[in-house]
Amino acid sequence: MRPRRGGGTYGFFSRNYGGEALQLGDCGASHFYHLWVGYGLSAGRISHINGDFSSRPPSFPKAPAAAFLSQIRLNQAKSGIVGRESKSAYDASMVAFAQQYGPWALISGASSGIGASFAENLARRGLSLALVARRKSRLQALAQRLQAEHGAECLVLPEDLLNPVAPQRLQEAMAGREIGLLVNNAGYGGLGAFEQQDFATLRNMVRLNCEAVLALAHHFVPPMVERGRGGMVMVASVAGMLPCPWMSVYGATKAFDLQLGEALHVELKPKGVDVVTVCPGHTASEFHQIAGVHGPVPGREAQPEEVVALALSKLGKGNSTVEGLQNKILANAPRFFPRSWTAAVSGKVLAKRLEHLPDSKA
Ligand SMILES: NC(=O)c1ccc[n+]([C@@H]2O[C@H](COP(=O)([O-])OP(=O)(O)OC[C@H]3O[C@@H](n4cnc5c(N)ncnc54)[C@H](OP(=O)(O)O)[C@@H]3O)[C@@H](O)[C@H]2O)c1
Repeated sequence: MRPRRGGGTYGFFSRNYGGEALQLGDCGASHFYHLWVGYGLSAGRISHINGDFSSRPPSFPKAPAAAFLSQIRLNQAKSGIVGRESKSAYDASMVAFAQQYGPWALISGASSGIGASFAENLARRGLSLALVARRKSRLQALAQRLQAEHGAECLVLPEDLLNPVAPQRLQEAMAGREIGLLVNNAGYGGLGAFEQQDFATLRNMVRLNCEAVLALAHHFVPPMVERGRGGMVMVASVAGMLPCPWMSVYGATKAFDLQLGEALHVELKPKGVDVVTVCPGHTASEFHQIAGVHGPVPGREAQPEEVVALALSKLGKGNSTVEGLQNKILANAPRFFPRSWTAAVSGKVLAKRLEHLPDSKA
């Protein structure tokens, strides 16, 4: 998104958060209020940021204007067309994207959520797709739909990425096809008290979220470096930007993804390979069900299309990006407050989710 300009407080956020400024309307005043009250700050403090918000009760319904803006943003993310961009400019940017990062994109975790949305967006941009996940029937259905709707060539590659030979098998399956973009997305999380969580589940989380991410990058990036052209998207998380008690291992795995992605951005940029790491916050997908988060999660829920549109808009431009204004505030908290404080507050917020675990003893 292009940066939008404005005056006063809106202008401050607009300048500091660039194209994300619309999310101020998107997250809604009541969400903003929840965020800061949830973090133990007084309503008086909120008035320092914007007097309007402090007067809103926590249950203030999402304003029609905010809902309207939210819908516009989502429609833009779905269509790919940004702001007042003309159709011809849009078409030209799609062609340039395909030349830079095509002809093939390999997407891990393409069977649902953010990964499926990457597949949709990249098919629209004219890339051919290698779709990787365990559920073959899901991948086949997605491939058929993308072929019918966008004419995208799709390869269905069912693999369990916990299998150490999976990256090698993927490389063999793709032999003779040039992968210009790797979307390192497959991953899962888990909520619960550390000592009560199953060790095998935690270890597999580390293996999938870190080892498999590393293995895919190490298999598919070197040919890009040889060609002097290509890209990789790392899907990390806001959870990787601050300690996450009750999701401690997940947070640690995502910190690994973030660090790896940001470092590779610097290393590979001069070699013609663009790396961007996207840090989503709460996003509508199967993630929460698998992680064991059953109750309502405070704050705004992003749609996968928004995460994907943001990540691809930053590819070749930034090293990492956080989706959503409230997530940006969370992610930056350790820069302004003592780490012990942010860890404690993060623990308080996440502990609330434990209350919704069916058999929680925490
Ligand atoms: N949703 C959120 O709120 C959120 C927030 C921050 C970051 N993220 C990150 O976003 C990424 C995508 O998650 P999502 O939200 O889209 O969740 P999701 O809907 O659960 O998707 C996860 C994907 O990973 C695949 N996967 C899981 N285990 C796998 C394995 N062993 N081998 C191969 N593929 C496997 C799943 O496919 P199969 O089950 O078919 O194998 C699925 O396609 C994850 O890295 C997650 O950590 C999500």
